[in-house]
Amino acid sequence: MERIYAHITGVQGYVPDFVLSNDILEKLVDTSDDWILSRTGISERRILRTKGLGTSDMAAAAVKELLKKTDTDPSQIDMLICATVTPDMVFPATANVICHKTGIKNVPGFDLGAACSGFLYALTVATKFIECGQFNKIIVVGADKMSSIMDYEDRATCVLFGDGAGAVLLEPGEEQVGVMDSILKSDGEGVKHLHQKAGGSVKPPSRRTVSRKEHFVYQEGRAVYKYAVQNMADVSAEIMEKHGLSGADVDWLVPHQANKRIIDATAKRMELEPEKVMLNIHKFGNTTAATIPLCLWEYENKLKKGDNLILASFGGGFTWGAIYLKWAYEPVV
Ligand code: ACO
Repeated sequence: MERIYAHITGVQGYVPDFVLSNDILEKLVDTSDDWILSRTGISERRILRTKGLGTSDMAAAAVKELLKKTDTDPSQIDMLICATVTPDMVFPATANVICHKTGIKNVPGFDLGAACSGFLYALTVATKFIECGQFNKIIVVGADKMSSIMDYEDRATCVLFGDGAGAVLLEPGEEQVGVMDSILKSDGEGVKHLHQKAGGSVKPPSRRTVSRKEHFVYQEGRAVYKYAVQNMADVSAEIMEKHGLSGADVDWLVPHQANKRIIDATAKRMELEPEKVMLNIHKFGNTTAATIPLCLWEYENKLKKGDNLILASFGGGFTWGAIYLKWAYEPVV
């Protein structure tokens, strides 16, 4: 029997209009454009400011456009997975809300939490449902409203994050393109370095948790950096070695956008020229689960059928991983 491959057949992103520049942050916390740019590579990020809107609204905007551009009726979708750490509510799943807002009905929808690696985890899960022949059209979303869990008095963390959403459509095909392989890893040792202290079952919300700012991201940046720079480069090298790929064989690195210095170290380890590295960190910052699909969306018109892409990420958990993807379609003109 021919192997079925999971092809990405469309990609779409959404970012809110409001631009939070380094200049504005200079007025909020003791920082400077020079520090932020030289330590992280970020100049600005987008923030969803409209009251009452959440992660599902950005995701739904991306999914609606994705359905339109791929000429897909919502009734054709077999499953939707949403990777996020900022769900609309603790329950139900944001995926269910996105389906409701986009007209997708009576199909499985669930959220997947793997922090910044969420999109790679979700894409891997969706791939298995396609490869086994169970489903024909799956939407994988990566979306986060990081501004909702950000302490805009914590200068070491608030300068890093932004809001956004990206979505891909996954379909089966016999042609040998699409998701070729994935390597996913996690290590709970990372919990202490990067987490949200309250709001879960261990420490439900209370006046005390709010006054102690325990609903915001807690990050020990230096420790996370050390793990991230090592593991994102290691896992990218591992998937290349497994498939006999050299830097010359790889057309694009699609890295999670947490810090430009982590991205540069990964590209160097892969022996890739800078022109082959997708970047949007300068204008969107770290949008957590959305960084990778937002990159694919922005570079879509540069991608050719058969291009070898390595998607790589590192994030809270710790979680990290890499996907070897062959692009499945020519640029749309
Ligand atoms: N402006 C000015 N100075 C600052 C700022 C700021 N915004 N933030 C920190 N500093 C200061 C610190 O206080 C420190 O001062 P000190 O030496 O007097 O104590 C100095 O700058 C250096 O601080 P470091 O934390 O060592 O700075 P570093 O070079 O490590 O950069 C950063 C910090 C950008 C957070 C980096 O550590 C990083 O990128 N870490 C990894 C982030 C990441 O990958 N996260 C994973 C994904 S997130 C997720 O999964 C949800």
